[in-house]
Amino acid sequence: MSTPLIGVSKSMLKIKELINHVANTCLNVLITGETGVGKEVVAQSLYTESNRSTQNFVKINCAALPETLLESELYGYEKGAFTGAHKKRRGKFQTADKGVLFLDEIGDMPLALQSKMLHVLQSGEFSPLGSDQEFKTDVWVIAATNHNLEESIQLKKFREDLFYRLNIIKIDIPPLRQRKEDIPSLIEYYFRLYKTEYPNNMGSKPDTDTMNRLCNYPWPGNVRQLQNCIKKQMVLNSWDKIFEEMPSEHPEEILQEIPSQKANGSDPFPHNNENNNRMSIISEFVDLSTSSEKLFEDLSLKKIKKLASDKVEKEVITFVLEKVGWNRSKASKILKISYKTLLYKMSEFEISPPMR
Ligand SMILES: Nc1ncnc2c1ncn2[C@@H]1O[C@H](COP(=O)(O)OP(=O)(O)OP(=O)(O)O)[C@@H](O)[C@H]1O
Ligand SMILES: [Mg+2]
Repeated sequence: MSTPLIGVSKSMLKIKELINHVANTCLNVLITGETGVGKEVVAQSLYTESNRSTQNFVKINCAALPETLLESELYGYEKGAFTGAHKKRRGKFQTADKGVLFLDEIGDMPLALQSKMLHVLQSGEFSPLGSDQEFKTDVWVIAATNHNLEESIQLKKFREDLFYRLNIIKIDIPPLRQRKEDIPSLIEYYFRLYKTEYPNNMGSKPDTDTMNRLCNYPWPGNVRQLQNCIKKQMVLNSWDKIFEEMPSEHPEEILQEIPSQKANGSDPFPHNNENNNRMSIISEFVDLSTSSEKLFEDLSLKKIKKLASDKVEKEVITFVLEKVGWNRSKASKILKISYKTLLYKMSEFEISPPMR
């Protein structure tokens, strides 16, 4: 049985409404959101609400398989197509025919397979490995990712044309900390669910104070983390213990803790060299004084990596150019990049010789 989509917040109600609108259109859907927000639950709700619900819901995790295996899982193969292909096998496109194909973690699909996927989505045809026969396929493609695909396109890790093919309808699920109103109903739902699952459990429901604490916790693991907490409460029956074990390295929570801990006389970031050094490096790329909401957005490792590597590249290129008197041919040799790449980088980083 599929999980019902629990939620009473404005954003969840909007998502439910969108699901109802889209369910029978067969327009490709891209579901995005952090880990544990419920991307798979939304994909299943789309399927159950649609007129394809009597057919198959086929899921494939594009991050879990190496490239060749992923390809043969998607499209199937003929006997003898490769070493080990002892007999013909149907792929997910065939199994999902007339139903739904859920491409989970699409952001991790290797580039070579992205081209093939684009072709199949455009033509509605595919051929199994080792076969020259083309098969028609009628699948409703729903994809999900916790990557920022616009960023992956910039980094040349995701094809822009495939993105537009998949992203006809976009459902972005906000993190749980941005829809706290959903927390009490999720807790209620899980209590009911686990009461029947483990009838002997003793876990008590949260009182008002505990509920406030639960609603104000930032839930870095989103609904999955909340669900696990309720399971634990069923066994341990101690909210204190559960709070003790919750991870608190989330930036929002760290920020909330700073003023109160400072007021108590203990500084969570003691001014030793190691900490000062770390904070000063981070502050080069992220504004640490901004709101916690914005800071959490800015602390994307991918974004910071790009900013940091651009900064170092710019410094190294400028250093070498200065050393060789701005002779670009010499500099490109020392940097071991082509002359053309050097020119491109100089223009990208706005590096030019000093005015005389
Ligand atoms: N709105 C919801 N109502 C009920 N259960 C939910 C909801 N959202 C998430 N869950 C539950 O939380 C857990 C995580 O959900 P799901 O697997 O759909 O997340 P996800 O976004 O696909 O995460 P990941 O990116 O890690 O794959 C599941 O056990 C799911 O049943
Ligand atoms: Mg998932």
